[in-house]
Amino acid sequence: MPPPARSPAAGVRRRGALLPLAFLLLLLLLLLHLTSSPARSPNSPLLRGSGDGEPRQRGPCDYASGEWVPDDDDPAVSGGLRYDQTCREIFKGWNCLANGKRNGRELLRWRWRPRGCELPRLDPLRFLERHRNTSIGFVGDSLNRNMFVSLVCMLRGASGEVRKWRPAGADRGFTFLRYNLTLAYHRTNLLVRYGRWSASPNGGPLESLGYKQGYRVDVDIPDQTWAEAPSFHDVLIFNTGHWWWAPSKFNPVQSPMLFFEKGIPVIPPLLPPAGLDLALKHMIIFVNKAMRPNGVKLFRTQSPRHFEGGDWNEGGSCQRDKPLSAEEVEELFSLDNNGTNVEARLVNQHLVRALEKSTFNVLNITGMSEFRADAHPSTTGGKKHDDCMHWCLPGPTDTWNDLLAANLLATES
Ligand SMILES: *[C@@H]1O[C@H](CO)[C@@H](O)[C@H](O)[C@H]1NC(C)=O
Ligand SMILES: *[C@@H]1O[C@H](CO)[C@@H](O)[C@H](O)[C@H]1NC(C)=O
Ligand SMILES: *[C@@H]1O[C@H](CO)[C@@H](O)[C@H](O)[C@H]1NC(C)=O
Ligand SMILES: *[C@@H]1O[C@H](CO)[C@@H](O)[C@H](O)[C@H]1NC(C)=O
Repeated sequence: MPPPARSPAAGVRRRGALLPLAFLLLLLLLLLHLTSSPARSPNSPLLRGSGDGEPRQRGPCDYASGEWVPDDDDPAVSGGLRYDQTCREIFKGWNCLANGKRNGRELLRWRWRPRGCELPRLDPLRFLERHRNTSIGFVGDSLNRNMFVSLVCMLRGASGEVRKWRPAGADRGFTFLRYNLTLAYHRTNLLVRYGRWSASPNGGPLESLGYKQGYRVDVDIPDQTWAEAPSFHDVLIFNTGHWWWAPSKFNPVQSPMLFFEKGIPVIPPLLPPAGLDLALKHMIIFVNKAMRPNGVKLFRTQSPRHFEGGDWNEGGSCQRDKPLSAEEVEELFSLDNNGTNVEARLVNQHLVRALEKSTFNVLNITGMSEFRADAHPSTTGGKKHDDCMHWCLPGPTDTWNDLLAANLLATES
């Protein structure tokens, strides 16, 4: 099994020195060999696959499953906030500290403890140093923006000299000047292009089936906001519409999703889950082709919502001030219960299938986030309805970035 390709994002390695490189390769081979045996240290992070289409390998420690523990008793951990309400990049509705959310500070006193190991807290200075001359892009919906903002705020605390800079198509971006590290956010809901569709007076295959209006979704065309992104970012973190693919989002009668492939409607029309599979298939192929050979591709799993007592537009709310228990999590999210927030696990099933044979790393944040019903902006989100979808910043998405940092470390070393 060949070692992972050398990544351009690993800035710490010496370049041009052949002998050390050969030695490094040998070491890597040895490491890969060791890590595939069960005798691994419990602290070893997740490993990605060998980069040639094999499924990813997992070490014995899975950062994705564990529990939130109070970290009051560890002053080194609970001591400092990672950043506070003064980070200007925080979207107003997510700034729970500034907005006076009752438990805005309380919700930060929990630490994710994976079963059998520790997930190291992202060290901003080391992150900056490791990723010199690197460009990292977040591609997805507002939940990926939430994660992007978390990383920007953490790094700004360590290095304030930033320049706003937006790579082509990006919604926003920053370069940390001293390190030449660029972070950018590319906004896209479904990854693929979509827009309103209405029946043509000249007729067509959809018209003859009685469709009058809906959304045209081109499963094989990336949204233009990120189509160029694979050509200039070294690392890409994708997600796809946290609830855009939910059964309730597009009204199946008044505004169905109508899937197009190669510019023509897919007949017979697909239901959204099948359309999602097709879109994922095409986008994975697209990224594999468009990304530079050593680029690192990650896919983040779905972010759960926590509406209780109704959906977002039915007066649902999230008033908890502690993380849920494991039992409460199952009650809220198990597929059998088919509750209000069931779509995250449903969409994840499709993601897993689409990604299992790919060379994407999976950032599985769903399980850890399902506990955090206490960490949404809730009534302080500044909207008519409660925001039980986005996350307070600072908040749990900081832990998503811990996972990202650990994953990049494992991928690049
Ligand atoms: C970053 O790029 C600059 C100029 O291209 C180069 O001098 C420097 O060595 C690079 N740093 C790393 C860590 O690769
Ligand atoms: C900054 O990093 C980018 C990669 O993100 C690289 O292409 C560029 O040469 C670097 N610039 C300098 C001055 O090092
Ligand atoms: C899940 O609940 C929704 C209503 O909330 C219903 O339309 C749908 O048919 C249910 N699905 C299953 C598999 O029971
Ligand atoms: C993510 O991790 C959880 C445990 O927290 C697990 O139950 C779930 O199956 C994992 N999902 C994916 C998509 O890997």
